[in-house]
Amino acid sequence: MITFSATRGSIVEEKAAAVVVALFEKEGTPSGIVQEVDRASGGLIRALREGGDFKGERGKTALLYTHGALPSKRIIVVGLGKQEKFDLEVMRAAGGKAFQQVGDLGLKTVVVPDELIEAKGFTRFELLEAFLVGGSLGSYRFRELKTGDQEKSKGPNECVVLAKKKEALPQVRAVLSRVNSIVRAVCLARDLVTLPANRKTPTMLAKKAQAVARENALRCKVISETQAKKLGMGAFLAVAQGSREPAAMIVLEYRAGSAYGAPVALVGKGITFDSGGISLKSPDKMERMKDDMAGGAVVLAVLQATAQMKLPVNVVGIIPATENLPDGKAYKPGDVITSMSGQTIEVISTDAEGRLILADALTYAQRYKPQAVFDLATLTGACVTALGNHVAGMMGNSDRLLASLRAGSEVTGEKVWPFPLWEEYFDDLKSDVADFKNVGDRAAGTIIGGMFLSKFVGDTPWVHLDIAGPVWSEKDKPYIPKGASGYGVRLLLQVLEDWNQATAPRGSRCVLI
Ligand code: BES
Ligand code: ZN
Ligand code: ZN
Repeated sequence: MITFSATRGSIVEEKAAAVVVALFEKEGTPSGIVQEVDRASGGLIRALREGGDFKGERGKTALLYTHGALPSKRIIVVGLGKQEKFDLEVMRAAGGKAFQQVGDLGLKTVVVPDELIEAKGFTRFELLEAFLVGGSLGSYRFRELKTGDQEKSKGPNECVVLAKKKEALPQVRAVLSRVNSIVRAVCLARDLVTLPANRKTPTMLAKKAQAVARENALRCKVISETQAKKLGMGAFLAVAQGSREPAAMIVLEYRAGSAYGAPVALVGKGITFDSGGISLKSPDKMERMKDDMAGGAVVLAVLQATAQMKLPVNVVGIIPATENLPDGKAYKPGDVITSMSGQTIEVISTDAEGRLILADALTYAQRYKPQAVFDLATLTGACVTALGNHVAGMMGNSDRLLASLRAGSEVTGEKVWPFPLWEEYFDDLKSDVADFKNVGDRAAGTIIGGMFLSKFVGDTPWVHLDIAGPVWSEKDKPYIPKGASGYGVRLLLQVLEDWNQATAPRGSRCVLI
């Protein structure tokens, strides 16, 4: 984690190893802070542009040595591309690129002005937040399991934000505190998803959740297999049957106060390894199935940040955690299991285990009489086929919730796309022996998954996010290094943050209906 601090000052006066400025791709004279830097340095920025090597293209950086023209030794210039195409995603990517440059130079500290640029529709604090979130997330690396590697981050260890005016300091500090909570949460999710299954058994996950709860004033209870049996969680326990590791249903509660009414429930799939069970998967890329608890990781991370940010909404998080393995005791295709809701399910594929554990978790969530339920799950490979690796599929029974996710998605850049849940799709799940089956034919796999889950939420407003695609990035992106992305944490936090706001205060936010 990068340590942030804020102090009054100006980047043309500050003596630092490197200061950052951002430029749009445009002709003409520089303005704002760029102009200030340009003037103070005797035209360094202008010369850079006029030299023709750097126009301010999106994602490009340039390194200038000041040779004493400014107290700071270096200026890192980062391009923002065309002004018409600007949004917060551009700012996050710019942060990622700039901090990467700092890391490549081996510098430990970077100085950033609080007013990087002016952009229509965004406050400077929103812009600063996006830049710092992108910078920090781009510097992430997972080194826990490499012996002898001391390097903790790809970027700087420390970032100092300079506030031009003293009056702005409290707001800048508020931004830094938010950035800290958001980044910590995303990195927690990334760490957990990256950990291999032998180092994040359901028991270990439960311990981690308890530690997070202790440190952040959350309540945590862990429902053991024995308790789950008493509660009638037959679907959850069926999946757990094949594993020697005890399963755990992890429950976390955040209380903002009784004035905020019924909680919002977040349910996250927590399969710590999905081999497919008796319906065994092919070995190709099976190691990736350690990421099948990414939904659960998001839920834990979001609760941590919700508590740190003291968001004005009550939240309960539920993470059904177990392995899905073949064994002499494992559940089998053809088995009929009774879920906590009382509905019976014919198991056709033991590889469609996510919906089974979620079924009981969603039923358990009803005990809280939640005002809304969101579930996040790496549920279907079909979703990756349909939408690719950058987008989550979303479906649900409430236009208002779908719209809130859409709005959150626009602010955070974590993309979602809707699928329909028409009743006809349910025909595929009709069973001869039980109330329904756990899989349909091959067609519309993602929707069928959603239809299955819909049978366990009753009339509660609910949205299911199939995050199988975006939880893992096969290549480096400006602020998502190759590997676990932490997708969903920022999106859900945004939705919770906006929860009790009737109207949208920001330019890019939608009004909830
Ligand atoms: N965890 C998988 C989904 C998955 C597959 C995520 C590939 C990411 C990449 C899930 O439990 C699963 O195996 N789903 C089956 C459902 C099928 C049996 C209806 C699938 O997608 O093949
Ligand atoms: Zn599976
Ligand atoms: Zn799975």
